[in-house]
Amino acid sequence: MSATLSRQDELKKQAAWKAVEYVKSGMVVGLGTGSTAYFAVERIGQLLKDGELKDIIGVPTSVRTYEHAKSVNIPLATLDEQPSIDVAIDGADEVDPNLDVVKGRGGALLREKMVEKASKLFVCIVDDSKLVDGLGGSKLAMPIEIVQFCHQYTIRRIAALPQVAGCTHKLRMEGDKPYVTDNGNYIIDLYFETPMADSKAASEAILALEGVVDHGLFLDMVGVCIIAGKEGVEVRTRK
Ligand code: A5P
Repeated sequence: MSATLSRQDELKKQAAWKAVEYVKSGMVVGLGTGSTAYFAVERIGQLLKDGELKDIIGVPTSVRTYEHAKSVNIPLATLDEQPSIDVAIDGADEVDPNLDVVKGRGGALLREKMVEKASKLFVCIVDDSKLVDGLGGSKLAMPIEIVQFCHQYTIRRIAALPQVAGCTHKLRMEGDKPYVTDNGNYIIDLYFETPMADSKAASEAILALEGVVDHGLFLDMVGVCIIAGKEGVEVRTRK
C-alpha cells in the first residue's frame, strides 16, 4: 500500500478505523479479507504495538489475512480453537438498504461466512461506492464457491435455477486456469442485469444444490455497517 492513499482508500481506512473502535482488550476478533479489511488489520496491529489494545486474538478469514495479521504481530487462532468470536470486521462488495451484503469478490467467502456467523457482532466496513438498491444491482460478480468435481454440471444446475433467472455466469479464472480458493474449490460468478427479486429464495435454492459449498449472499448477518463517504462516516445498525 503506497504512502499516499487514493480518495477511495482514504474512505476505506476511515471506515476501518471506526470499526476498530468496537474492539476492546481481551476480545477475540474476526479479521476480514480485502482492501478495506486490510486497514482494520493494520490498525489493530498498531494499537497492540502501542499498548492501547491488549490480549487480542485474531481469527483470520483467509490465508492472505493470516499472513498480513502475522506480519503485524496479532496473536492468531482458528475457529477450532476459538469458536466464539466477539466481533468480526470485514468489507463487502454490495450493501443493500437492509444491510444485507454480497461478499467474496476476493474469493474468501466461505471462511468469511464461517467466521462472521460465529461472531456476536459483524461490523461491515465499506466506502459509499458499495451501496446498492438491491443485491446484484452493481452488475458485478456475485460469487458461488463450488467443488471441483463435475463443476460444469453444478454450474449448469445453478444457471437453470428460476431464482437467478436472467443472470449470466462465468467460472472465475486465474490466467488460463480456474481460480482455486483457499479451500481447494472453484468459484462461479453470477452477473445480474437488475437486482435479484428475492435474494433469500436465491440463497436457499443455490445452497440446496449438491456441489455448492456456499455463496456470497450474507443475509441477516451484518449487525453494524460503517459507510465512509465524502460527507463523513455513517454508522448504520440493523433494525
Ligand atoms: C473477500 O473475499 C471479499 O468478501 C471482500 O471482503 C470484499 O470483496 C470486499 O473487498 P474490498 O474491501 O477489497 O472491496
